Amino acid sequence: MKIKSLIKYFRLILLLLFSFMLSCGGDDDINVVIVDDEGEIPISVDFDITVSETNTFEISVNNTSTGITGLNSYWQFTENGESVPDGAGPERHVYSVSGDYLVTLTVEAPDGDIAVSKTVIIVGDDDSPALKNAAKGFSVGMAVRSDRLTGSHNAVLVREFNSLTAEFEMKMDQIYKTEGSLDFTASDAIVDYGVANNMDIHGHTLVWHNSIPVWMNNFSGTDEEFETLVKDYITTVMQRYAGKVRSWDVVNEAIEDGTNNLRNSIFRIRMGANYIEKCYQYARDADPNAILFYNDYNVTFDSGKQAAMFAIVDDLKSKNLIDGVGAQMHISYNFPRRAQIQSVVDGTVSRGLKMHFAELDIRVNPNNDITSLTEQRAIAQQNKAKEVAEIYNAIPDENKFALTLWGMRDSESWLPAFWGQPDWGLFYNDDFTPKKAHTGLIEGFR
Ligand code: XIL
Repeated sequence: MKIKSLIKYFRLILLLLFSFMLSCGGDDDINVVIVDDEGEIPISVDFDITVSETNTFEISVNNTSTGITGLNSYWQFTENGESVPDGAGPERHVYSVSGDYLVTLTVEAPDGDIAVSKTVIIVGDDDSPALKNAAKGFSVGMAVRSDRLTGSHNAVLVREFNSLTAEFEMKMDQIYKTEGSLDFTASDAIVDYGVANNMDIHGHTLVWHNSIPVWMNNFSGTDEEFETLVKDYITTVMQRYAGKVRSWDVVNEAIEDGTNNLRNSIFRIRMGANYIEKCYQYARDADPNAILFYNDYNVTFDSGKQAAMFAIVDDLKSKNLIDGVGAQMHISYNFPRRAQIQSVVDGTVSRGLKMHFAELDIRVNPNNDITSLTEQRAIAQQNKAKEVAEIYNAIPDENKFALTLWGMRDSESWLPAFWGQPDWGLFYNDDFTPKKAHTGLIEGFR
């Protein structure tokens, strides 16, 4: 008895509430009723929009609808724009230019879709020194780690970047630590973050002599079994992220310094001299929509290495297995020269391929002659950054792709550990404020 009267009481409250909502319902707020065995269940579709205080181009939308549990819903951030699934919690969207935008939330209700739209006015500072706003026609990327995606890292990422690369967590020795079991924990975290923030994701890297799991180096099976392992790995990873990761470095750094021959990696030993072609074929088959890159370092100033790279690239291109060239930009404030950087661009453009300026950092202490970042070196770094950005900017639109920075703060750079001496090769200070080198990029993009 007691429970029955409670239910009655609760229903009455619901009905009263519902009629109140009907009488209040404005343009933004649509109320319909569907009736099922339980009685009347009101569906109310609505949402809030807030504009970010740190980035005036960024909005956050929060679905405040009621009665929609179990129903699919999605967002459109521009009129008839791309549909973005409505996940748990607020979603963010970053516009690139000021304007009035229609934001729509659609709920797929049993009796038909219910859509509610609101207009948001974006008055961004279009001259603001956010890298992604200054770069026209290409993405600006950042190398990230899964434990550096929150707090100030997140604020800088969403303000400045529209592309991500995993600094190491999407490499084979991380994903495939143990034979027979793939671990996507960190890579998923990075991909999910990129997707949630509408960023391009550049996959780095499927096959690299420097990230081979120990067990794979010691693999005792036949060469045929080894090849199947590699094929399955490329296929599984690429298919997992198909539609999310738009591009991949399939093979990274295949050329040996000095000789310019193919490195005698386990891949070459086990799969033969045409292992590169095989890997690109697996990649093409796994995700035909992915943009496939070959990525290597010192291909600006080392003309022999550059020629060896383009020989590999030409062979892949003749089989329609490659779409772009990644020139790793691990450079210094005084080297390589502008014309040397330009040469790899010219080679890429003349082949009709996309150019990725990958892994940009600019050493200021290659000769170990400073113990802190001097004003003079900071300016020299700014000038080199500007030069790199200018060269990239001048690439024909159809060959533009992305310019990716290899880390955020100087203290997070791989450079000091790699070279065994201090350096300040990146674009943000330890307090996350942009360095002069950052200004150099903005200047070069304009
Ligand atoms: C480096 C990362 O920065 C390090 O964190 C990691 O431990 C080793 O790899 N060329 C590449 C990158 O293609 O993957 C390398 O990144 C730097 C050189």
